[in-house]
Amino acid sequence: MNLPPDFDRLARIYRWMEFMSFGPWLMRCRCAFLDDCCSAQRGLALGDGDGRFTARLLRENRAIRIDAVDASPAMLNALVRQAGPHATRVRTHIADLRSWQPQSRAYDLIISHFSLDCLTTSEVHSLAVALARAVPPGSLWVVSEFAVPENWFGWLVARPTVSALYRAFGCLTGLQVRNLPDHSTALRQAGFSLQKRRIWLGGLLTSELWSACGERN
Ligand SMILES: C[S@@+](CC[C@H](N)C(=O)[O-])C[C@H]1O[C@@H](n2cnc3c(N)ncnc32)[C@H](O)[C@@H]1O
Repeated sequence: MNLPPDFDRLARIYRWMEFMSFGPWLMRCRCAFLDDCCSAQRGLALGDGDGRFTARLLRENRAIRIDAVDASPAMLNALVRQAGPHATRVRTHIADLRSWQPQSRAYDLIISHFSLDCLTTSEVHSLAVALARAVPPGSLWVVSEFAVPENWFGWLVARPTVSALYRAFGCLTGLQVRNLPDHSTALRQAGFSLQKRRIWLGGLLTSELWSACGERN
């Protein structure tokens, strides 16, 4: 297995890079189903980067405890800083999502914003199978991702934008993946079902709420 991408040197500038490229849209996309997360008790944040979503969720949901898994120690440090006074409810785990195994079976919320796109479809499938075994039925999974709609906008705008992002992150972090994974098929085959979906920027961004229906694979 190759090394995971190295996001360490981007940790401090990541939010500014995002703001310069997509303005407020990625944060809108991440927060689309925030209300649905407000009764969760145990959250699992997968590759939440500098932790702006985690910090927002900790402020809105004063009961939740969150395990944050990321390969980048600098991103996890940024996440803890973002959490501020709520950091006592966060546990960090430096790990590669492609080999990490959940140690708790109590998660009722999984969070992955723009991190499944660092994996291949088969890696997302393996992760989703492991998670389906580790969460009770009814647990939620919030996903934000880039997408390429099947229309002229997809061909002329979304596809080149996504390719340019992959090339840039390939140079900056060593990311080797070059195509969006088919996370929908991977999650469905692992036993999750799509509850809600919203799209942004003509379909370039998608926010999804999935729920675990019981183990399958
Ligand atoms: C593109 S950033 C997204 C960050 C954040 N979730 C967001 O919404 O912007 C991808 C994050 O996933 C982490 N990541 C990527 N591949 C990983 C892997 N194989 N194992 C663990 N973390 C990984 C990176 O370190 C980074 O923090």
